Amino acid sequence: MQERIHQKFTELYGEGGRVFASAGRINLIGEHTDYNGGYVFPGAIDKGIIAEIKPNGKNTVRAYSLDYDQEAIFGLAEEDKPDQQWARYVFGVCRETSKRGGTVKGFDCVFAGDVPLGAGLSSSAALESCFAFAINELFQNGIDKFELAKIGQSTEHNYCGVKCGIMDQFASIFGKREQLIRLNCKTLEYKYFPFNPEGYKLVLIDSCVKHELASSAYNKRRESCENAAAAIRRNHPEVEFLSDAKRVWLEEVRGLIPQEDFLRAEYVIGEVQRVLDVCDALERGDYETVGEMMYQTHFGLSRLYEVSCAELDFLNKLARKMGVTGSRVMGGGFGGCTINLVKDSLYEPFIEAAKELFETEFGHAPKVYDVVVSDGAREIK
Ligand code: GLA
Repeated sequence: MQERIHQKFTELYGEGGRVFASAGRINLIGEHTDYNGGYVFPGAIDKGIIAEIKPNGKNTVRAYSLDYDQEAIFGLAEEDKPDQQWARYVFGVCRETSKRGGTVKGFDCVFAGDVPLGAGLSSSAALESCFAFAINELFQNGIDKFELAKIGQSTEHNYCGVKCGIMDQFASIFGKREQLIRLNCKTLEYKYFPFNPEGYKLVLIDSCVKHELASSAYNKRRESCENAAAAIRRNHPEVEFLSDAKRVWLEEVRGLIPQEDFLRAEYVIGEVQRVLDVCDALERGDYETVGEMMYQTHFGLSRLYEVSCAELDFLNKLARKMGVTGSRVMGGGFGGCTINLVKDSLYEPFIEAAKELFETEFGHAPKVYDVVVSDGAREIK
């Protein structure tokens, strides 16, 4: 990929670019907890974005996406927002860097990626983090890593219409090889946990469905959580985020909030605790508990949070039936992947059965990705 990028860069913009990379992410557990001030437990993966980039001495950006085979040319002022959706991520990162007082001048770049789109692996965060990191290095802004992650997050909020939490961009910037990171999204304290489960594989099964309206449904989940938190706060002013609430405090407002908001909140409060339980289990090498928690999360995401779909429920049920250690829908939901913790010995039969039975049921084959937990944003020398 790097070679193809370099070839195109030389052809279009000449010599001398620097090369940066960033990654997509997985999340072992802690879904829809980030914007609720709870815990998440992601890691960067060995699929990402690579960009070659060089200042051009002008006030315009020329960006070439190899995957779309398209160039976008845009200025750096607020009114210069490009038409192409993919270019808005790059533009947004430039704007958000400027808003934080960083220098951003014109540059040329060619980039490509291998994070499957719409699979829930955060291809967009990989793109944002790659550019946030690269621009910071190129113009020597000295912006710290958390702020780089927030640049990506604000890009989603202000230029792409998704009111996402910080997890994806955080994982993409802070990711390290063979390490998952538990992040407290309220305090931003984080801790690396070695993750190299001997005897198990981590495999993603992509349903290859992506539901329209995923971003408006996502934003609606967030609103439900905020409503529930506001109701609880009336009795318990210390509740800043939903994750601060105890289960019994939620019970006090049952009947005062819509049933839907109640169910969403019930899921979130349970999920925050599950992240802590999984981290403890991991430290003991207790993968059975890790897996059991993943199933519980799937149940919550499917029945209480309602972000699963028939295809993902099917894959989850099959995993359970075959004795897979853990399985659940991963990421925002409404399509995308399940993440599965599978014993080595069960790996082949499980993948085979999943492919075959899924195709019989839904008429198209799922995709399978083995993932390796890897480094996040960096310069490639
Ligand atoms: C998407 C968002 C994240 C997070 C997950 C769900 O990936 O971008 O911030 O909320 O969904 O855990």
